[in-house]
Amino acid sequence: MTKFYTLVPSMIYPNKKNPIPENITIRKPLSQITNKLPIHWLDGNIIKTQVANALSIIFKNEEEYFIKTVRKFIPRVKNQKLKKEIISFIGQEEQHCEFHSEFCNKLVDQGFDFKFLSFNLKNLIYGTMGAFFSDELNLSIASGLEHYNKTIAELSLSDKVFSNSDANLRELFEWHLAEELEHSNVVYDLLQEIDSSYFHRIQGLAIASLVRNFTLTTTTASMVAQDDLSQFLRIWKESKEFFFTKDQILYKLFLQIINYAKPDFHPSQHSMTDIINDIFKNRNFEIFFSKKSANQPEQKVSKSE
Ligand SMILES: [Fe+2]
Ligand SMILES: [Fe+2]
Repeated sequence: MTKFYTLVPSMIYPNKKNPIPENITIRKPLSQITNKLPIHWLDGNIIKTQVANALSIIFKNEEEYFIKTVRKFIPRVKNQKLKKEIISFIGQEEQHCEFHSEFCNKLVDQGFDFKFLSFNLKNLIYGTMGAFFSDELNLSIASGLEHYNKTIAELSLSDKVFSNSDANLRELFEWHLAEELEHSNVVYDLLQEIDSSYFHRIQGLAIASLVRNFTLTTTTASMVAQDDLSQFLRIWKESKEFFFTKDQILYKLFLQIINYAKPDFHPSQHSMTDIINDIFKNRNFEIFFSKKSANQPEQKVSKSE
């Protein structure tokens, strides 16, 4: 597949024709997924690992849905800065899809089977919404789902959830999540430009909540069921700690998600620039489009020791 962002380089960089600087960088991580991944690669914890695996299966399908949804609106966007951000958003999400597809192949190598599940996510959930809902409603749903992704990124990066995990996967997941923070305003701003009504935004959030809770619950349950069920007590204890008592992830998630329902909400209200910069500072990337440079199609960034 031809990468969308390679077709439009002149729209990206600040130049005579396009003097507006770019705000979002498209990066390709140079780290590779380790060939022999430990089964419980995240903190040696069955539940945390399977939630991350399930998110990966979801992202692989969901981010394709985002790309298809926002791409339709490009001709209607009058704000040139936003138009560039949308193109960079698509570039970042394409990189994320590629990583999660590759990671899902490793999960298959580990013996997990989610072909049927992934088919249903792609066709029954995202495909049905894309085919039967209006483009505007799909945009509102995508904006709601992006708020879920931003929230997951905020919680996991500030709580350093990946600190005790396979080193390469830590880099790759943290890169993806940091970029979710970096582009968190894009779909929301597009939604505001297309239809800024409060009801429309909340309608999208309601459907996004149903979709995200259903897909994450069923996918995680399916992955846990294929893990070592003989360790039932350990799974129970880890679930209790992660969701309710120690990490309290559901409570924290709920508090962040309801922010989106505030009438004056905007994703930039809770900025995490320090954490984002920290993650990008010490990692290896090939840069496609950078917010720092002008008219440099490719640039290597090396790891600072
Ligand atoms: Fe993404
Ligand atoms: Fe995203």
